[in-house]
Amino acid sequence: MSTMALHEAAGKAAPAAGSQARIRVCGLAKRYGTLEVFRGIDFDVGEREVVTIVGPSGCGKTTLLRCVDGLLPVDAGEIWCDRERVTEPIAGMAMVFQHFGLFPWKTVADNVAYGLRMAGASAAEVAERVPHFIKLVGLGGFESAYPYQMSGGMQQRCGLARALAIEPSVLLMDEPFAAVDAQTREIMQFELLRIWETRPTSMIFVTHSIEEAVLMGDRVFVLKGRPSSIQKIVEVDLPRPRTRETLLQPRFAELRELVWNTLMAEAREAEFHLGR
Ligand SMILES: Nc1ncnc2c1ncn2[C@@H]1O[C@H](COP(=O)(O)OP(=O)(O)O)[C@@H](O)[C@H]1O
Ligand SMILES: [Mg+2]
Repeated sequence: MSTMALHEAAGKAAPAAGSQARIRVCGLAKRYGTLEVFRGIDFDVGEREVVTIVGPSGCGKTTLLRCVDGLLPVDAGEIWCDRERVTEPIAGMAMVFQHFGLFPWKTVADNVAYGLRMAGASAAEVAERVPHFIKLVGLGGFESAYPYQMSGGMQQRCGLARALAIEPSVLLMDEPFAAVDAQTREIMQFELLRIWETRPTSMIFVTHSIEEAVLMGDRVFVLKGRPSSIQKIVEVDLPRPRTRETLLQPRFAELRELVWNTLMAEAREAEFHLGR
């Protein structure tokens, strides 16, 4: 990365004015044996901010989320959530996984209740919150269904309900809609935006879809390189609430192109040289 790009990334890595940082990541580095996945990762996420992360497959997006969640040890750097240093999973962070991460032997209600019980909720809280969050994600009537009886989209609604039920202060999403069909994906994106509007929270949302990154995010981080680092941070100045109308705005297309160009710059250059 050039010095200028570094300055640009560093200068914009703080959350927007008026928003306190909830997550603070400094100098993060991670390797698996001899494979250096990323290094020098610095960023903040505001308490009501959505940061989306895009980057080529294998660049370390899942690894980064698992480090932030305290599930994986890091090789250098620190992660802070409010005033708490994260070195193991802490209360108040919830993860939604690409492949849903549901217990196949538990019903929808039991899967949602599991997250709450793990978070130390009382039986009364579980009884009150489980039906509420199942309805919120549109799964009312499927409380007793098992994962195998439901479509991918429904399973992911259940994963979302389980995460939301603990009323997390940080929501970590790892390509949550990558395994559902395109139409369901669009429905889920707008439902998540609607739910987020009712209770805006700190969110880190990993996706391989540039459109989804721009639609959901206040800022898009482009992760790139070997080892990877934050190559560019794109501020998404599209108004909220975001709706299907947002997709039609000229500014949406501009931002999508900006992210696309950053992501594709090297790939195109390589192709150009090969073609000569
Ligand atoms: N547990 C692991 N042990 C060794 N290498 C891993 C492990 N998990 C991921 N990797 C490797 O680390 C790199 C980053 O993986 P990952 O974080 O899953 O990337 P992404 O989510 O961006 O596709 C990849 O090269 C992957 O093969
Ligand atoms: Mg991944």
